[in-house]
Amino acid sequence: MKEKLEHLALILDGNGRWAKKINQARTYGHQVGMEKIKDFCIYAHKHEIKFLTVFTFSTENWNRPQKEVDFLMEVPNKIFSDGKIDFFMENNIKINWIGRESKIPASTLKAILDAKEKTKNNNGLVLTIAFDYGSWEELTHCFKQIVLKQPKLKENLDIIDDVLIKNNLYTKDIPNVDLVIRTGGETRLSNFMMLQCSYAEIYFNKKMWPDFSQKDLKKAISYYNKVNRRFGGIADE
Ligand code: IPE
Ligand code: MG
Repeated sequence: MKEKLEHLALILDGNGRWAKKINQARTYGHQVGMEKIKDFCIYAHKHEIKFLTVFTFSTENWNRPQKEVDFLMEVPNKIFSDGKIDFFMENNIKINWIGRESKIPASTLKAILDAKEKTKNNNGLVLTIAFDYGSWEELTHCFKQIVLKQPKLKENLDIIDDVLIKNNLYTKDIPNVDLVIRTGGETRLSNFMMLQCSYAEIYFNKKMWPDFSQKDLKKAISYYNKVNRRFGGIADE
């Protein structure tokens, strides 16, 4: 079955190593890397992709040096600042966010929620920022939500099914991932949308994220287009 590429997810890895190679601070790599997200919104749209999700900060990234964490916490404020939100409006991009609410600074949360609010009526590409996101934390949050909404759960366990679980994940408004691209040479998913990627094709690339180009994206998409996705079934006759 040929499945249209509807949801592309990017694990944009390699910012720090890229910066080090040119004798710059790791934070410079993050700055360049985060600016590139906008270019990829345009490329994604050109390829008729409806959902683009980018992994910008994981629940494990808090383990980095404080200076780097502080810089990364400022990323949403920078990419969604007043002047820069125009880009998303002009390109009809709706901003979405998945992640934990409780740990990020109030000003960062405000920048994310303001960007969501301002772009909520756009109906082009949906750009989801995974920020302080991790699959295990998402699942923990999901279970708590279910119990809160269904206090009598013990009396009717059958109400727990995959639909209920999906509806209580941070990703409830977006479809499962079709293609994941991870740059930077590592070949793992790092706790990123583990359930939502359960049938995703995974494309690993050795280039550091700041070097990953539109041409590289095209290669990844043609790889995806050649794959026969069976979803547990068998090949088409
Ligand atoms: C990815 O680049 C960006 C974030 C996780 C925020 P890295 O910071 O992981 O870069 P490397 O892997 O150290 O080069
Ligand atoms: Mg890394």
